[in-house]
Amino acid sequence: MKRKFLLAGAFLANIAAWATPEYVPVSTFNTSLILQLDSAAAPALVYYGPAVKGDLAQIAASAPEDGKSDAYPVFGNYPERESALSMTMPDGNMTLELVPAGEPETEVDHNGNTVVSIPLADRHYPVAVTLNYRAFPKEDIIETWTEITNKGKKPVTLTRFDSGAIPFRSTDAWLTSLYGTWANEGRVNTEPLTPGMKIIQNKDGVRNSHTSHAEVMMSLDGKPRETSGRIIGAALVYGGNYRLRVSTDDHGRHQFFAGIHPEESAYRLMPGETFTTPLLALTFSDRGMGEASRNFHRWGRQYHIAHGTEVNPILLNSWEGVYFNIDEPTMAGMMQDIADMGGELFVMDDGWFGRRDDDSSSLGDWEVDARKLPHGLKGLTDEAARKGVRFGIWIEPEMTNSNSELYKKHPDWVLKAPHRDIVEGRGGTQLVLDLSNPQVQDFIYNLVDTMLTNNPEIAYIKWDANAPVMQYGSQTLPADRQSELSIRFHRGLTSVLQRIREKYPDVAIQACASGGGRANYGLLDYTDEFWVSDNTDALQRLGAQWGTSLFFPAVTMGSHISAVPNHTTYRVVPLKFRCDVAMTGRLGMEIQPRDMSAEDRDFCRRVIETYKGVRDVVQLGDLYRLVSPFDNRGAVSLMYVSPTKDKAVYYWFRTNNDYSAPLVTRTPMEGLDPDASYKVTELNAIDQRPLASEGKVFTGKFLMDNGLEIRPNHDLPWGKKVDYCSRVLLLEKQ
Ligand code: DGJ
Repeated sequence: MKRKFLLAGAFLANIAAWATPEYVPVSTFNTSLILQLDSAAAPALVYYGPAVKGDLAQIAASAPEDGKSDAYPVFGNYPERESALSMTMPDGNMTLELVPAGEPETEVDHNGNTVVSIPLADRHYPVAVTLNYRAFPKEDIIETWTEITNKGKKPVTLTRFDSGAIPFRSTDAWLTSLYGTWANEGRVNTEPLTPGMKIIQNKDGVRNSHTSHAEVMMSLDGKPRETSGRIIGAALVYGGNYRLRVSTDDHGRHQFFAGIHPEESAYRLMPGETFTTPLLALTFSDRGMGEASRNFHRWGRQYHIAHGTEVNPILLNSWEGVYFNIDEPTMAGMMQDIADMGGELFVMDDGWFGRRDDDSSSLGDWEVDARKLPHGLKGLTDEAARKGVRFGIWIEPEMTNSNSELYKKHPDWVLKAPHRDIVEGRGGTQLVLDLSNPQVQDFIYNLVDTMLTNNPEIAYIKWDANAPVMQYGSQTLPADRQSELSIRFHRGLTSVLQRIREKYPDVAIQACASGGGRANYGLLDYTDEFWVSDNTDALQRLGAQWGTSLFFPAVTMGSHISAVPNHTTYRVVPLKFRCDVAMTGRLGMEIQPRDMSAEDRDFCRRVIETYKGVRDVVQLGDLYRLVSPFDNRGAVSLMYVSPTKDKAVYYWFRTNNDYSAPLVTRTPMEGLDPDASYKVTELNAIDQRPLASEGKVFTGKFLMDNGLEIRPNHDLPWGKKVDYCSRVLLLEKQ
């Protein structure tokens, strides 16, 4: 079979000459993923690792003798093996046999990235499958996805449809994943991959990142480290139900699969229809998890986060400040306060519509509550303009309550199974709308469209979702499509968001779902950021944001200064510490400023001013994680470095004030220019005397070899002393 050899971008030109035709390399600057094609067999994935220079036949010559791994294993022959794709043919045949159906194709997309497509077909049945790989050279990311087309005259039923599969070999492989629950999101779990199957999944239906995340890191060299060792990182770009699997055998052979969760999700693929799986983004790093995270961050900001290359505004959100007690004077007061502190945006949270005095009513009835806001949204946007801040608003458009006007009018719009009583959630009355229903999609689109058309000053939407699918069943989908509900719900949601984005490209959207239920790249295509957690306790946030940072950059992480005692943990953490933690992400406030002392408000004003000077480094720079909150070393440390390495922000947090606890007060820095000199300035300083390093100049090499000794307590007058010391240092290249 004649095959076109592929040039995956100009940087590959130098290896094209040595390649033998049966290899298809997909390459980034530092990595290669290599497929091997054989006209008579399924394509194999023979290599994923550091960029291969020289003759690709090296791969075959060094391959294990116990067989190659299929690039996209299908169900059929040897059914005991794990597969990425399975389907039932019209005649009941449940097997597939895929072989190449033509030459691989290469095209350069509108961003200049190269897409390699491998067309395959079943040997007998009219089913076509295309494996796609898009290489992002600078980011060292490869996206893979699969298109499955029914070319026959009768429907086929898809029963498993992973986005991709990656085989790898290691006798000491470890898996790092995120787990948690409401108010405890982003916990890091690191475990060895032992023989058997490890599954990470989510079947919530609406919110997919509280209890687990659709992203993992796989270490090939033992327990993962931040700066060394081989890592394969994977992020499924999908906001719906997912399943990630790693199958491990007794000889260190692993196979990773990721895709839409197939359980109860059989999909009838009609003649002529193509099922396109979500993207699976892969990265390979031979410099530990830190590099893998930075690859995801760069790729995310550039390609998968709305406005990801711009800094996000400093905002005050009303939720923890006043909860449902919204009224015009209170909102105006909060706008004034955030404006006085130098903030840029005020967000009115839940409680402004219907008769929403608590969480038991009014979702779906999106009319302004005139009792609370007699001058409507216009009154508020005018007020915001007078105060010099932008205005944002909370909605939860995918939901309704059983006592709403909407539900009375459209009882068939909610998720419900025949002959079953409805299941109600939050507030005892919450119901989930059926996003697979085009009328519901239009209702949500029109709600947002009307709001934004009538109030063009609205600059930001907090899009919340506070319930899982509580009863499985669509009142719209026909009987033979009920199993497609989860997939079609999510398609409905993304198509509404897409329409909104097209008409209102400049509006910022925060994805929120009972806190961090929507921290996911599938939604970040349409949203600017997400709410990391309803737990705003600064100590807890260090963990949640650390875990989340494995895959998501700071520009996506809403990180707010809130009141003490904290509303979730009741812990009292000093304001400086709370501000410093908020400064590691997209800083905001979640507090009633009127309840703060004038001194505290003034401190926040200074912090906001300081943050404006460094937020480009934090939100758009490179993250280096130095001391993990999950290692219990008494302190946490991280830093951000600007892409040009001319500026860096270093953070150190004392998380345990127990004098017998271990305490890391000095840790080598990273990411700096070794030959440059950096001047140190402490930010948000409160001590009576400066640090020894204050105003001094150090070489990047010295800082990366030695770090700086950190004074672990604040030097404050008696009576003002505080627990939980924290330091923020600005490093500026001289
Ligand atoms: C859950 C969110 O996580 C909170 O921030 C807040 O918006 C509430 N919903 C409002 O009901």
